[in-house]
Amino acid sequence: MQMVGRNYFLKPKGAVTVLLLTVTYITSYVLYFSYTTPGQANSYLYWLERKLKVRPSYVYQGASMQEENEETYFPANLRVLSNETCPEKFYEMNGKMSVNVDEINLDKLNLQFSGKVKYGGNWSPEDCIPKWNVGFLIPFRNRHYHLPILLRHLIPMLMIQHIKFTIYVINQEGNQRFNRAMLLNVGYLEALKMKHHDCFIFHDVDHLPENNRNYYGCTDMPRQFRVLLDVNDYSLEYPTFFGGVTGLTTEQFKKVNGFSNEFWGWGGEDDDLYARVNKLGYNVSSATPTRGRYSTLQKNHHQESQNLGRFNLLTSSIERNSIDGLNSLRYQPATIETHKLFTNISVDLQPVRMLKKT
Ligand code: BGC
Repeated sequence: MQMVGRNYFLKPKGAVTVLLLTVTYITSYVLYFSYTTPGQANSYLYWLERKLKVRPSYVYQGASMQEENEETYFPANLRVLSNETCPEKFYEMNGKMSVNVDEINLDKLNLQFSGKVKYGGNWSPEDCIPKWNVGFLIPFRNRHYHLPILLRHLIPMLMIQHIKFTIYVINQEGNQRFNRAMLLNVGYLEALKMKHHDCFIFHDVDHLPENNRNYYGCTDMPRQFRVLLDVNDYSLEYPTFFGGVTGLTTEQFKKVNGFSNEFWGWGGEDDDLYARVNKLGYNVSSATPTRGRYSTLQKNHHQESQNLGRFNLLTSSIERNSIDGLNSLRYQPATIETHKLFTNISVDLQPVRMLKKT
């Protein structure tokens, strides 16, 4: 008797089709994922590179290891005179800090700092003359869950470091894609309309410093504070990385004409700033790898999708420097609200024209 049955084994043509479909599906998924979740995609890439042992162990080019070895912190009993400049190395700056990523309600946090931090997010040490008057600029859009966690962590650290500060949250309104760089330009100008600052620190809302010896003041060179990140297994992205948490004096930022206004979406604006800073002959100074460690907040976070045009834009960083930045910035009047622990600057950003080359 002849058996009649179906052949369950695919013919070679069918197998190739299935293989091609699977490869197309996986490739599209990977491309879609890296487009919509760029930060996480980068972390996976670095992880893979480490596994395959093709990732060099980078050293940030501005890091001074001498700084790392200096242990000359104040002894516990030493007091500073009130007419003296606050030193950078207080006894309480004892290194590693514990990082608490638990959710906290802003009202509860306001109570915690009430009577200590002044309205608008202002604080100044009273036992010595602060070395820097720092404006902290936090670019922001829908990160209400992250902000109180950052403030709970950052404020006590700044107090220990005796830094005079004002915290500004620069909130992007409207429907345009997120423009971190332009927000920071707006924050810089608006902050200076309200107050004198000699140093600005651009601080991502989801970055929590892990070491309180990472001194949040400026230097005579633009500064990279965030060197290593937990999600990247504490490895450096690349030697010229200049994102996350960086700082420039008011003067330095003016000289480099601020950030470019052209970067809509995730990525590139920090690389562009690095090019500007370099063009003006600054060597970026950097926190050491031990001090420049940060934890990231990842929960409840919808990431901004990649700006694919950034690679092209980055080829003209130097040429755009003088026509695209603080001098070409235009924006609708910003709304300023004074909260207990920060000053909120809300602004609807629209693309601006670059100035004409003279
Ligand atoms: C982006 C930078 C970003 C870096 C992080 C680069 O591709 O252009 O903006 O900070 O990746 O890994």
